[in-house]
Amino acid sequence: MRLVLVGPPGAGKGTQAEFVAAHLCVPKISTGDIFRANVSQGTPLGMEAKRYMDAGGLVPDQVTIDMVRDRLAESDASDGFLLDGFPRTVPQAVALDKMLADLGTSLDLVMELVVDDDEVIRRLSGRRNCRSCGKVWHLEFDAPVRDGICDRCNGDLFQRDDDKPETVAERLRVYGRDTAPLIDYYGPQGKLVGMDATGPVEDVTVRAIDALRSYGA
Ligand code: AP5
Repeated sequence: MRLVLVGPPGAGKGTQAEFVAAHLCVPKISTGDIFRANVSQGTPLGMEAKRYMDAGGLVPDQVTIDMVRDRLAESDASDGFLLDGFPRTVPQAVALDKMLADLGTSLDLVMELVVDDDEVIRRLSGRRNCRSCGKVWHLEFDAPVRDGICDRCNGDLFQRDDDKPETVAERLRVYGRDTAPLIDYYGPQGKLVGMDATGPVEDVTVRAIDALRSYGA
């Protein structure tokens, strides 16, 4: 299956992507994770991306599209994938359709995770990420036993630079302006399934998998 997860910052795309990709036996491809890995390795791509990420903006379309094209050409993505955070603009969606058409295939489904702005702010202000294994925690909803330490690998936990309140406000604004129009792009194609992403993580996962089953996945 070729699936896209779309939704505002903090909707739980990364959290659900882990479970849904495992259920579908496809790789999870997160453009945010790829950019962050490049930032931490200090690559030229990472240095360019960081300027936009820290300000709550989007990395330019062409940079992002080229990066995704390279990633989708890897062998593990040939039979399916779950894209988390891409596309995020209509030009990226058009480019993805073209990339897949060139490979003789197409997107199967776009799942929209629906949460309101207040919930986004609660989720992002409490998010903590593990520096070693990348696991995502939440101080209120999924807290580690020890303060600041990852239960899975004993790594240090940190708060993402772009989770500061002023940056979150800008990310929400950018989402409304640049990413929300994807709903009008995919809706008429009959590929869009909207899903309530509030409530406990496990309940959202069950809803997501039930929705996929109803589409034959
Ligand atoms: P990216 O990493 O994709 O950020 P995002 O879309 O803003 O999404 P987040 O990672 O913030 O949130 P999420 O929806 O994955 O939520 P999570 O599961 O962590 O991108 C970062 C930046 O990179 C962008 O701003 C941009 O600059 C750049 N970029 C990336 N892709 C790009 C593209 N295509 N084009 C251009 N630029 C691009 O959950 C959030 C928190 O809530 C966690 O703490 C979690 O534990 C908790 N939580 C999750 N689910 C629940 C639940 N059901 N109940 C309670 N808590 C929950």
